Amino acid sequence: MSDASTGAANPHLAQYAAKGLKGRILSGVQPTGNLHLGNYLGAIRNFARLQGDYECLYCVVDLHAITQPQDPKQLAAQTREIAAAFLAAGVDGQKQIIFAQSTVPEHAQLAWIFNCVARVGWMNRMTQFKEKAGKDRENASLGLYAYPALMAADILIYKATHVPVGEDQKQHLELTRDIAIKFNNDFAAPDFFPVTEPLIFGAATRVMSLRDGTKKMSKSDASDYSRINLTDDADAIAQKIRRAKTDPLPMPETPDDAEKRPDADNLLGIYAALADREKDDIVGEFAGRQFSEFKAELTELAVAKLGPIGAEMQRLMKDPGHVDAVLRDGAQRARALAGPILDDVYKTVGFLKP
Ligand code: TYM
Repeated sequence: MSDASTGAANPHLAQYAAKGLKGRILSGVQPTGNLHLGNYLGAIRNFARLQGDYECLYCVVDLHAITQPQDPKQLAAQTREIAAAFLAAGVDGQKQIIFAQSTVPEHAQLAWIFNCVARVGWMNRMTQFKEKAGKDRENASLGLYAYPALMAADILIYKATHVPVGEDQKQHLELTRDIAIKFNNDFAAPDFFPVTEPLIFGAATRVMSLRDGTKKMSKSDASDYSRINLTDDADAIAQKIRRAKTDPLPMPETPDDAEKRPDADNLLGIYAALADREKDDIVGEFAGRQFSEFKAELTELAVAKLGPIGAEMQRLMKDPGHVDAVLRDGAQRARALAGPILDDVYKTVGFLKP
């Protein structure tokens, strides 16, 4: 998908613009530590880029985080850290809505209803559950299994029309669409929930581990060398790129050649995304050159682009009062949107008014 933020010409918005409406975005990030380059290039950077065209809600999904064990003290600090990352990446906390999921109880209320709409067969197909539960599935929390229904509620409690995410969330968004369609059918409420569109764009929708180009870069990888954290300083970034896995050949000559070499392909995609250029262009520029030269240039680029964001995150994290105020204000505004939609859902389902 090409860049989705193209103002009036944005094809994703045509049907809403025709009705005089703005599209509404919701997206979320889990406060589970080690916010990394994949989270930034796949999602958070796009959050800032989309804010001109859409009304945006960006949520730190703490309810999702506890589907796996969390240290309560760290959870609070990490929730602030993600909010700081949204702000540092350029999201305007006054114009847009930044909030913590647990402070808007309507998410959990709608999630229960969606637990009753979604089918067990649908949940059984979710690859993220299979990956996270691993071999010991019997011992996974019920919350981890129901996770995608809560994610659908995060989106649909605001009737969001678009959701910017990395490639790995595609299946969850397909489930969100299935839940919306089934709810609308089951309750004879055509068009009650929108059939939300994913926005997956940029040159790095799936950033891979620096230690293994066939594995996704992830917050939970035991090796810190597998990822660049948004709070890494210039030295750490340089060291991680220097140690990033490559093969003994010179840089790929063509895009086809790059595709067959996952470690090289990943670094080329990261370079392209950071430089805001097409990957094929970058392949052409470095074709046949030594990895060491490429890595030196990639380091320079990464430090130039990520350094200011990391520094701003550090500054904001020293000012938790400010971050908390942004989150509090965001929660109030989010509740003002979610409350009336939940009232309509309750009425549609047949719940009595208190
Ligand atoms: P989470 O917290 O794992 O990741 C946050 C965002 O970062 C993207 N991402 C990546 N993009 C490219 N390369 C990678 N290696 C990479 N790793 C992560 C994710 O796709 C995501 O966009 N289930 C979601 C959180 C969530 C949510 C929502 C998202 C909860 N409710 C509602 C959108 C809408 C998750 O676990 O993201």
